Amino acid sequence: MKTKIAVTGALGYSGKHVANILFNNGLQVKTLTNSTQKPNPFGDKLEIVPLDFQNPDKLSESLKDCTILINTYWVRFNHKKFNHHEAVENTRILFEAAKKAGIKKIVHVSITNPDKNSKLEYFKGKGELEDYLINLGISYSIVRPAVLFGDNDILINNIAWTIRKLPIMGTFGPGLYKIQPIHVEDFANILVEEAENPENNIVNAIGPETFTYRGLIKTIMKIIGIKKPVICAPPWIGYLVGKKISKKQNDVTITFPEIRGLMKNLLYVDTPATGKTKLTDWAKESKNTLGMEYASELSRRK
Ligand SMILES: NC(=O)c1ccc[n+]([C@@H]2O[C@H](COP(=O)([O-])OP(=O)(O)OC[C@H]3O[C@@H](n4cnc5c(N)ncnc54)[C@H](OP(=O)(O)O)[C@@H]3O)[C@@H](O)[C@H]2O)c1
Repeated sequence: MKTKIAVTGALGYSGKHVANILFNNGLQVKTLTNSTQKPNPFGDKLEIVPLDFQNPDKLSESLKDCTILINTYWVRFNHKKFNHHEAVENTRILFEAAKKAGIKKIVHVSITNPDKNSKLEYFKGKGELEDYLINLGISYSIVRPAVLFGDNDILINNIAWTIRKLPIMGTFGPGLYKIQPIHVEDFANILVEEAENPENNIVNAIGPETFTYRGLIKTIMKIIGIKKPVICAPPWIGYLVGKKISKKQNDVTITFPEIRGLMKNLLYVDTPATGKTKLTDWAKESKNTLGMEYASELSRRK
């Protein structure tokens, strides 16, 4: 019998890439998802079950025929319909359900610089979950990406969109804090490698290029052929501009905690690259589509 791997959100962004690699490796994949109606590029091959945190027994039951769980589940910001606190509680329920179901290993997606004592809820929640998983009593790998890029990504695409739309571009403060984007396919490969790794492991998922935020904006501008002034704006001005865009797009473009995390250099780690695709190469190939359309986080949740 083929090994079956459970992946949360295999109809979502990174999960889709993970499922694709697993299928190419000849494995069976079951996804636990909050969006069972999302377009399914895998057809009948992909088994789809709800990610039902309200029903831990059912959750555990649906994991019983799987050997490994690859968990991408998280929420990006606090919102009236979802929040970090709830995401932490839900993930604990998922971990316990996996343990009860006899899952041999959990590969869990975290973030660079998680910290259970952080004032930033995203980094705090991720830190708490890392601790919880490490003490759960089953084998684990924790993968910590900084920021993902690739076709259909949100964050890098929307930086390019903003560059295209606004008369001038700005950084939050001087913009010298760093960021290490990783291609979504490289990231998915790391998750699959970790699923095969018999050892416990914690790995940063960062690409081969490190940019300052200012450098990233200038690099994207050059690649998409747009020349505009890049000013240093007080972070709250940048936030207000983001808020205006959010209102117009009916989305949450950027939150103040995200700006704080960026400015605190939390999307940077001093470790070797684990991804191989350069953002600059990918952006050159995608320059005609990059940032042409706004990518909406909230519309993907509908
Ligand atoms: N994207 C980035 O740049 C980035 C950067 C750093 C870390 N990460 C981490 O990488 C992981 C995967 O990110 P991704 O961009 O590939 O995420 P994604 O596909 O948008 O979502 C991954 C999973 O989380 C669920 N989810 C997301 N937002 C939710 C919400 N508001 N309410 C309920 N469920 C929600 C999705 O639900 P469905 O089942 O409905 O699809 C899916 O199961 C996450 O743990 C994230 O923290 C991502």
